[in-house]
Parts: sequence; C-alpha cells; structure tokens
Amino acid sequence: MMKKTKTVNKGFLLSLEGPDGAGKTTVLEKILPQLKRFVSSKVVATREPGGVAIAERIRDIILDVEHTNMDDKTELLLYIAARRQHLVERILPEFDQGNFVIVDRFVDSSVAYQGYGRGLDRQAVSWLNTYVTDGLYPDLTLYLDVDSETGLQRIEQNKEREVNRLDLEKLDLHKRVRAGYLKLAQENPERIVTIDAAQPLDKVVADAMAVIQQKYLEKQT
Ligand code: TMP
Repeated sequence: MMKKTKTVNKGFLLSLEGPDGAGKTTVLEKILPQLKRFVSSKVVATREPGGVAIAERIRDIILDVEHTNMDDKTELLLYIAARRQHLVERILPEFDQGNFVIVDRFVDSSVAYQGYGRGLDRQAVSWLNTYVTDGLYPDLTLYLDVDSETGLQRIEQNKEREVNRLDLEKLDLHKRVRAGYLKLAQENPERIVTIDAAQPLDKVVADAMAVIQQKYLEKQT
C-alpha cells in the first residue's frame, strides 16, 4: 500500500486514468467547461507525460515509434522523471494556490502500464511514485473503464490522433493494463472511482461530473 499525504487546505487534484481508447481526452474536453462553472477557484487542465517543455521532450523519447528497443525499466524511469518535472513546474504552483488541477494520467498509469502491463516490480513502481510526488496523491481519480477490444477499436477508428509506439503493442499488454486498473480501483475505493466508459459519451460525462461534484464539496466542508 502506498503512503499518502492528505491534501488538506490546498487545491483539488483530480486525475483521469484509463486504458488507451477509454476516451479520457474527449471526456476531459466535455467536463472542463462544466467544471469551470461549478468550481469557485481557477481550473487548470494538464497531461502526463508532458505538460511542460522538459517533460514534453521526455514524452517524445518515450513515444517515438523508432524506439522499439527501449528497455522496460528505462521506460518506467522516463515516465517517472517526466512526472517529477511536471509536478514541480505545473501542478504544485497551481495546487498550492488553492486551484483545481486536472491531470490526464498520473501515478496510477505507471502502476497499471509499467507494473501490471510490463510486469515490473509493483512495489518499486509505487515507491518511485511516492518519491517523486513527495507523497501527494489525487483527491479523486476517475478511472474510465473500457474493455481492451473496444479501446483498441476506438484507437483504430480515431485516425486524426497521433499513432504512438504504445498503440502498436499487442492486445495482451492492453488486457494486463486494464486488469491492473481494476485491481487498483478495488484496492483504493476511497480515491479511485470507476466509470463505465463504454456508455454513450453524455452518460460518461454526467457520471464523471456527479462524482467530481460530490468529492469537491466534501473537501470544502
Ligand atoms: P496518452 O495516450 O494518454 O497521452 O498516454 C500516452 C501513453 O503513455 C499511454 O499509452 C499510456 C502511457 N503511460 C505509461 O505507460 N505510463 C505512465 O506513467 C504514463 C503517464 C503514461
């Protein structure tokens, strides 16, 4: 189990998680205007890996289709390095001022993809996560759940999106990643809420907003 620091009296940190093709980015676009109306502070949306110049450079290295020989531990450490830089430069300055920060992927992606997906030592992954976040975990994580076949089909149909190195991986990896997310959600019910992302988009957005509003109001009281 990961050690967590309670995020009292600061902003609100929301992470969006899910296997590839779960529709995180589309859902984020839809909830953003609604959140801006609902939340009293500034709302900031960002993403991992990337979000700031150094981390975007790291993202390019990780996702380059030429880098088929990348070692699994190298990949993990690159994600972790990108996370640290992004946290320090982008998330913390906003969060510390009391703002609402939404991050498209965060600590759970490393556990699901590098831990469950690649089979790296999950305790090591969790330790690295806690090390680079100084124990800061999201107030709420929305896990958008979709089965691997549907997720991969969506990626296939979405031709406008960049095709990255990880899209080329086998169905097996995607299945392990999903199983990992489901396990994480089961182990952290107070933080991670699962949303059925196979539903129509409007329903996914409505479910997401209902959960966010409840958690946000809880933190204000
Ligand atoms: P994205 O498509 O949501 O932008 O994410 C890019 C890819 O990076 C996606 O396949 C998930 C993967 N990823 C990891 O494997 N580990 C991580 O820690 C993060 C943040 C992303």
